[in-house]
Amino acid sequence: MGNTSIRVENLVKNFGEGDNLVEVINGASFSVDKGELVALIAPSGAGKTTLLMMIGCVEEPSSGTIYLGDEKVYENRWLTRKTRKIRREKIGFIFQAHYLIPFLSVLENVTLVPQANGISKKESQKDAMELLHYFDIADKADAKSSQLSGGQNQRVAIARALANKPEIILADEPTAALDLVRSIDVVKMLKKIALEQNVAVVMVTHDEAMYPLCDRILKIEDKKVVSSPPSS
Ligand SMILES: Nc1ncnc2c1ncn2[C@@H]1O[C@H](COP(=O)(O)OP(=O)(O)OP(=O)(O)O)[C@@H](O)[C@H]1O
Ligand SMILES: [Mg+2]
Repeated sequence: MGNTSIRVENLVKNFGEGDNLVEVINGASFSVDKGELVALIAPSGAGKTTLLMMIGCVEEPSSGTIYLGDEKVYENRWLTRKTRKIRREKIGFIFQAHYLIPFLSVLENVTLVPQANGISKKESQKDAMELLHYFDIADKADAKSSQLSGGQNQRVAIARALANKPEIILADEPTAALDLVRSIDVVKMLKKIALEQNVAVVMVTHDEAMYPLCDRILKIEDKKVVSSPPSS
């Protein structure tokens, strides 16, 4: 596998059955390397979120194969009963809404999951402060999330997604609620993480202005996934 972070082969996802069967993905094969930031694009309802959630071991595929790093996690069934553990250890999720807890401080939001995973308060706070410095938001560590702007909260949400040192970041329209300047800011940050921490980042976006900032475009077309350079 070497440098490959995500490998998907012949993935199929249907919802419902019989007359109510909806085929969303039908035979998707692609891979994403460590250190790569790829945009995942397709019209509304084409299956972007569904695909992301299958890679993230949240939504069960109908058939196919998924490798995360060197581990084959799915082949016509989950190959482990510990999908939650894989999710927790390997994946960082970022969503359109930041889902921070408004009445907790920035620092508490970022340390919540690591502490739940058994990391000591002191160590989790040290790690979190490093991340907050990295994202230039350390001065807000003690502010409540509700006191921050949308762009600031999204930076905190990225710090939180990184707090578990994931190998893969799955971001579902992370810039949808932001203006152009803040959007570019967030995507450049994701690129920096990919490069400096060798993380694979898959980002769903509807914003064409973000394409040139990505290494590659994955597009869902005819229920499959095609890859192209960002200029096309
Ligand atoms: N739990 C579910 N049960 C039945 N159908 C579902 C379910 N989740 C998603 N779908 C269907 O699967 C298709 C893909 O949905 P998905 O949310 O992945 O699209 P999307 O590309 O993320 O769209 P958007 O850009 O609007 O977010 C849609 O037709 C949707 O109605
Ligand atoms: Mg979606």
